[in-house]
Amino acid sequence: MTTPHERELTTGVQIPLVGFGTFLIPDDQAALAVENALATGYRHVDTAEVYENERGVGEGLRRGMQQAGLKRDDVFITTKLWPLTQERNKTSHETVRSLDESLEGLGLEQVDLYLIHATFGREQRLEQWAALAEAYKSGRARAIGVSNFNSSHIDELVEAGLPVPHANQIELHPWSQKPGLVSYLAEKAITPIAYSSLAPLSTWRTAPGHSSGKTQEMRTEGEQSDSPFKKLAQKYGVSEAQFLLGWGVQNGYPVLPKSTNPDRMRQNLDIFSFRIDDADVDYIRGLDRGPGLAWGEVDPTTSA
Ligand SMILES: NC(=O)c1ccc[n+]([C@@H]2O[C@H](COP(=O)([O-])OP(=O)(O)OC[C@H]3O[C@@H](n4cnc5c(N)ncnc54)[C@H](OP(=O)(O)O)[C@@H]3O)[C@@H](O)[C@H]2O)c1
Repeated sequence: MTTPHERELTTGVQIPLVGFGTFLIPDDQAALAVENALATGYRHVDTAEVYENERGVGEGLRRGMQQAGLKRDDVFITTKLWPLTQERNKTSHETVRSLDESLEGLGLEQVDLYLIHATFGREQRLEQWAALAEAYKSGRARAIGVSNFNSSHIDELVEAGLPVPHANQIELHPWSQKPGLVSYLAEKAITPIAYSSLAPLSTWRTAPGHSSGKTQEMRTEGEQSDSPFKKLAQKYGVSEAQFLLGWGVQNGYPVLPKSTNPDRMRQNLDIFSFRIDDADVDYIRGLDRGPGLAWGEVDPTTSA
């Protein structure tokens, strides 16, 4: 059964609409962060091989689940294949080994969702996707998908006679709405999962070393007291972060807010008490700026 705070993937697996993002949380801090996230009420955690924190995330899951009396089925866990080795694209065999290592690091027999992280593995993309399809068949992943794929990347998989992905994790927020890709995903019944929902916030990735394509001009704009999302948040009586996350879930996108700050963790989960009206939805449609900014100079959706 789907509850109002979940969405069903085509496999019948329920994905909670709010997940805890773990990018930029170092391995030695990930256990505490994930433990706190579960204690706060998160039931969905997003990690990746390339975040190099799967061991910490796994430890946090064990501790948090034990403390909250949760069973494995109560928590939805996503991880992602990094498609490249140091020198080249991963083969099918190396893809299987990456999943083995992720499961071993997380201390799990199965993930709920396994994704190809980006399109960079051009030469072996079909081979990697076929390996994920096998992982799905064998039950080591309850659902499989891609991340940062555009429609032609997905067409390429389908035209090769391979299964349609269950999800595509992409950068989605009012500054990067990707209407063409979102309609394509809806046609194919592929669930869009939104990352970097908070990118327009002035507080987004401000710590040293947390780089992105966000310009100083964009940051300054977000600091103004009359910036669009500050004004909208005020109108709906929520924080700016809650407003941006609410925009995502209202569109049906699972969102993945990341914070290690307890107050922010709580507010990022509490986003279901308001509904953005049609006039504001239309106004926000006009604020789209095209491609995202989370990956900096690289646009991960445009590689051939
Ligand atoms: N598939 C991909 O290619 C991809 C790419 C990027 C991200 N992701 C996934 O999506 C997750 C989220 O994306 P993201 O890491 O870009 O960031 P995000 O969740 O959109 O934003 C995180 C940033 O916003 C700040 N923040 C969080 N909650 C806040 C609040 N309530 N008020 C004010 N500031 C707040 C955080 O600071 P503090 O931490 O200091 O609170 C941090 O700097 C990632 O962790 C990862 O799991 C996937």
